[in-house]
This record gives sequence, structure tokens and C-alpha cells, in this order.
Amino acid sequence: MVDPFIYHNPTKVYFGNDALSHLHEELPRWGKNALLIYGGGSIRENGIYDTIVEEIRKAGISAYEISGVKPNPEMPLARQGARFCRERGIDLVIAAGGGSVIDTAKVIAGSALYDGDPWDLVKSRAQISHALPIMAIPTMAATGSEMNSCAVITNPDTHEKLGWTTEALRPRVSFLSPKNTFTVPPAQTAYGSADILSHILEVYLNRAEGFDAVDGFMESMMRSVIRWAPLAMEDGFHEEARTNLLWDSEWAINDLIDRGHSVSWTCHALEHELSAFFPIPHGLGLAILTPAFMEYVLNEETAPRLARFAVRVMGVKEGKNEIKTARKGIRKLRKFFTKSLYLPGRLSEIGLDDALFEDMAAHAMAWKSTDGILHGFYPLTEEDFVA
Ligand code: NZQ
Ligand code: ZN
Repeated sequence: MVDPFIYHNPTKVYFGNDALSHLHEELPRWGKNALLIYGGGSIRENGIYDTIVEEIRKAGISAYEISGVKPNPEMPLARQGARFCRERGIDLVIAAGGGSVIDTAKVIAGSALYDGDPWDLVKSRAQISHALPIMAIPTMAATGSEMNSCAVITNPDTHEKLGWTTEALRPRVSFLSPKNTFTVPPAQTAYGSADILSHILEVYLNRAEGFDAVDGFMESMMRSVIRWAPLAMEDGFHEEARTNLLWDSEWAINDLIDRGHSVSWTCHALEHELSAFFPIPHGLGLAILTPAFMEYVLNEETAPRLARFAVRVMGVKEGKNEIKTARKGIRKLRKFFTKSLYLPGRLSEIGLDDALFEDMAAHAMAWKSTDGILHGFYPLTEEDFVA
């Protein structure tokens, strides 16, 4: 029924609009010589950078910085950061930004104590016992990286976008302030919300019997994202919407909901292939792939779960025919992405070249499966991926 598991999530979270005001209390507990990592400059425009600098000053520690992390982050900057940590004796990493920044910080922190190429660690999914401590300051609701032990990064030389999960990468302290997400543009809010929904659906679409309460929690979180995402897009300063989305993003992927089941992360496996080759936002790829995946796997066996999703999350009226009910739910989900979040509904609409799909499918399968089948909600082969 439920596989044996360990649950241990030691990330300390400060939540609330004053969360960052605690940074100076935490910093000296974790290091004396920090490296601040951020992205393309949004934190300089919205004032978060100034607040962090002031907190570092109050903490009385020294700090360097590396900026310019791009969405779908790549190895060269992470390599540079790891080298910098070794050369300057950095003992603490602070990440301020979206998932791309936090993931880059994780790869830097995880490989700073390693003399070889950091990509070796990612590629071999190395289970390391030590990393530099990480403080995370998320500025958008999406990946939940600030409370989990995974980093996703691309090697542009090989077009591989891989996830590296090891406990040492989990941030020690995270500072979650809804107000720090007020300036996230509408499109980015939509991508982040689609990502949160996908994190829940990857777990929820599981035929194994599990925990009733966790199933209900997942349904309620999905309803919450569907309720608040359009409001946050309409009014970026909508505090209730930003607050809910931020907390939803944590619980969607911080090890609570997936315990007790093996999860195949099918849509993520496919999306990581897309964004390894094309510069598309992660959440956008997922918004297109998720309803397509649900439609593809809909059959007598999968219908009960998909029909339950239709009724309890998408508000479809329960009918006698589960396949029909499920189909209505999938249609409503696609409509939510395209009409409420204004996202494209097909890969062709974003101009993706299907010539590479066979290579991508082969790679996704090689990374995720040992027997040529991706086991999960429904067993899929490489040919299914291409389709
Ligand atoms: O670079 P800046 O200037 O900061 O701008 C960013 C970036 O352009 C902007 N942004 C973030 N906060 C903002 C803001 N703009 C204005 N105001 C703010 N407060 O948003 C843009 C996108 O940022 P990014 O970090 O790329 O977005 P996201 O958080 O969606 O991260 C996506 C990456 O995380 C990976 C994805 O594959 C992708 O590479 N994932 C990481 C996971 C994990 N570590 O657990 C799991 C996920 O499934 C996912 O794979
Ligand atoms: Zn994701």
C-alpha cells in the first residue's frame, strides 16, 4: 500500500513580509565569509538586494557576489562559483532569486569542496555528505527549491538538463516573503503556477493507494493555485494571492506529499528535455505537456484517478462514465492554462522543432529508466514519449 519511507525536512523557514529582517540573526550562525548569488537584476530593481546588503552589514560578516544567473541555469557559472568559493575560502552561500538562482547556488555549494569538475557530481547523482550551508531567499513562487534537496542544471555542451538530488543541498534556512514576489511579471507568475500544479499532479496521478489526508491536501492545494494564480497575474500586489501561491509552492515539492510512493516525474522528464534544447520557461513547457500527458494515458485503468481529479479539483459534475468525467476535467485544466493563465496550448504554438523529439525521448528514457519503460501512473516507452 505505502512503501516504507523516511521523512526529514530540516529547512528552517521564516515566512511573512518581515522574513528577511531575520537574515542578520541567522548569518553568523552559519558562516563568516559569504557568497551572494543572484540573477539578471530583478532584485536590484525591487529593493531586495539593498535589504540583503544591509542585513549582511548588520550580521558583521564579509560577502562577495556573483550575478547573472539565467533562467534554465547552466554549468559554466556554477563552475566559476565553485572555483571562487575554493579560492576565497567562502563558507556560506546565499541565493536570492527564482529556482534558477537557488539551483545554481546549490551546485556551487555542493561542489565547492570538490576538486574535480562539478558536472561529474551532477551527472553521477553523487550522494555527497558535505556542502557549504545555503540560505535561500526565493523571489517567486514556483520550484520550491528553497525547501528541497534538488538542483536542476544544464550542461550546454551536451544539452543535458539534469536533476541532482542529495540531502546536503537542502537549504539550512529560507526566508519566504510574499511581498518579495509582488514584482514577478504576469507571464512569470503563470509559469510558476503551472509548475506548482505540475509538481502536485506528478504525485497525485498515481494509482497506488496512499494516505487519504495527503490526497485531500493535494486536491486542496491544486484548487488554491487555480483560485489565486489568475488574481496574482491581474494584480501583482494581491497579497493574499501571493501569500497562498508561495506557501503552495513549498508544500508541492518539499517531500511531504510524495512519501510512500515511487514517483516517475514523467512530465518533468519530458520538459527538462525541451528546456535543455530550447530556451523555454520550465512552467510553460509543463502547462503544455501536462494535459497532453493526461489525455494520452487516459484509459479504463487510469480513469478513476483522473475522474477524481476532474470532480474534486476542476469542479466537474460526477458522472457514471469515469472516462467521460476524466476527459471533461482534462479539458477544463487545458482551458485554465490557456484562458485563465494565457499560456499557449500546443508545442507547435511556441515554434518547437519536432525533429529533435526522438533524441530527447531517448535521452529522457536513458536518464529515468533502467529497463526501457518509465513506470509510473501508466508505463510509458520511448515511442510513447515521441508521440
Ligand atoms: O534573473 P532575474 O532578474 O532575477 O529575473 C527572474 C528570471 O528572469 C525573474 N524573477 C524572479 N523573481 C522575480 C523576477 N522578476 C521580477 N520580480 C521578482 N520578484 O523570473 C525569471 C525566471 O526565473 P527562474 O529562476 O528561471 O524561474 P523558476 O523559479 O521558475 O525556476 C526555473 C528553474 O528551476 C528548475 C527548472 O527546471 C528551471 O531550470 N526546477 C527546479 C526544481 C528544484 N530545484 O526543485 C524543480 C522544478 O521542477 C524545476 O525543474
Ligand atoms: Zn517543476
